[in-house]
Amino acid sequence: MPTHVTLQPLDERGLTDLLHAAVRDAEPGEVMPVDGTGSGWDADRQASFLTFHRGRALASPPVESTYNIRVDGEVVGAARLCPLPDAPGAAEAGVWIGRSRRGAGIGTAVLGGLIERAGTEGYVKLFVSTTADNTAVLRMLSARGITYTLDDNAVTAWVRCG
Ligand SMILES: CC(C)(COP(=O)(O)OP(=O)(O)OC[C@H]1O[C@@H](n2cnc3c(N)ncnc32)[C@H](O)[C@@H]1OP(=O)(O)O)[C@@H](O)C(=O)NCCC(=O)NCCS
Repeated sequence: MPTHVTLQPLDERGLTDLLHAAVRDAEPGEVMPVDGTGSGWDADRQASFLTFHRGRALASPPVESTYNIRVDGEVVGAARLCPLPDAPGAAEAGVWIGRSRRGAGIGTAVLGGLIERAGTEGYVKLFVSTTADNTAVLRMLSARGITYTLDDNAVTAWVRCG
């Protein structure tokens, strides 16, 4: 991973930075599950973002691992590893990067770093799921020689990390 892109385990202080990055540079639906329609960050949506992470990576015990993605110290997005109960040793990978920072190689660096983190956390494989129109993810997978399965509009891949 390039030295300027780092993954930092989420904590309460980092959560504030992550909220600011999300509000500044992403839609709610890109960074957490959202109910109903409508876009934009009102007070309820911001509170939901905090509740979401406090109920998962910051819960005790944690439901998943979340990492702040920092580029030159600035938080630009998040990456997560969520254990898959039906697949021992496996986690689902998730990444979002702020819109203004996409297409600059950050996602590619993060995928490599996340695979390393997954191995460190004891996982042996990662599950990646996206849609067929997500060209960036497909290119990131192909660049690492990872084959994916296309089923209608759903794309899935398994990545070895052990
Ligand atoms: C998917 C995502 C994490 C990729 O991060 P990124 O920093 O933009 O990725 P990179 O800049 O490393 O680009 C990876 C590849 O995709 C290509 N790419 C990036 N954005 C693209 C776009 N909008 N259209 C087509 N290709 C694109 C890049 O050119 C690069 O290909 P190359 O290595 O062959 O040149 C980011 O776009 C994002 O946060 N999207 C919204 C959330 C999401 O879809 N998450 C993934 C769920 S599994």
